[in-house]
Amino acid sequence: MERHQQIDQAAAALRQGGLVIMPTETVYGLAADAADPRAVAAVYVAKGRPSFNPLIAHVADLATARRIARFDARALVLAERFWPGPLTLVLPAADEAAVCDLARAGLDTVAVRSPAHPLARALLASFGGPLVAPSANRSGRPSPTTFADAVEETGAAAACALDGGPCAIGLESTVVALLDQPSLLRPGAVTREQIEALIGPLAEAEADARRSPGRLTRHYAPASLIRLEAEVPLAGEAFLAFGPHAAGPGVWNLSPAGDLAEAAANLFAHLRAADRTRPLAIAVAPIPGQGLGEAINDRLRRAAGYVG
Ligand code: TXA
Ligand code: MG
Repeated sequence: MERHQQIDQAAAALRQGGLVIMPTETVYGLAADAADPRAVAAVYVAKGRPSFNPLIAHVADLATARRIARFDARALVLAERFWPGPLTLVLPAADEAAVCDLARAGLDTVAVRSPAHPLARALLASFGGPLVAPSANRSGRPSPTTFADAVEETGAAAACALDGGPCAIGLESTVVALLDQPSLLRPGAVTREQIEALIGPLAEAEADARRSPGRLTRHYAPASLIRLEAEVPLAGEAFLAFGPHAAGPGVWNLSPAGDLAEAAANLFAHLRAADRTRPLAIAVAPIPGQGLGEAINDRLRRAAGYVG
């Protein structure tokens, strides 16, 4: 089937209340019509996700986003600079019908993002309205960054699945709340430094669980124990290296060159691969904390069970 036929078929499935596995530049999503409470409920069921944890509304462009959320000057600056791309804005909800109450988990705010992946963009254009799309993993598992992992996680619940190849970024979008004081709810590929350069300091979200419901649950976790800041693996451990390291059985190198973007793109796939070998634990080399390193370390701490 040709690509545009696949897209039209996926859009038709969405209109009928079906779910679609959708590639994005960050991670694979499980998409549904944001206005259809039954379709949105099916997303929560497919993921085993607590219904107090709201979903991101994905839009084709800023004009669509402005119909569902109220943009202030700071939100406009960020959307104009980083969309389409890996940045989600949490804003006061505008037209509450376009993104149903269940998708917002009953909050009066809404999370919006315009993804950059060409297949996600084509699907949004063909569908013609906002799509909710949480990461396509079952709740509490690492986000899928390949088509095969997405299908393994939630494929059984999807009416169709679009193969967009491996995700270029590999970590979920940066989430910034612009409600009263701007705060970073989830670090990602758009870095704290890039955002602060445009709108000034971002508060930490840790203290405000109501503003970031996703922080209430353990996230991104493989089955194995995780040991962070490991210089070398112990006997029986799998090892996620960063920078030069001898290759060998049980070793996955996030980036032999020590490149953070490469490490981010490999993180979840390597965690999954290491986890499948059922090691005593997964030891992970220290990762520098600046720039994209903040997001990588955030996901690693969650996988290790240190946060939330
Ligand atoms: O990169 C991404 O954002 C991926 C791709 C598929 O677009 N999607 C994704 O969605 O990561 P999900 O549902 O796995 O994560 C959404 C995060 C959750 O932590 C949720 O709590 C938060 O966004 N969120 C959504 N709506 C919110 C709201 N109104 N207020 C605060 N946090 C919100
Ligand atoms: Mg997720």
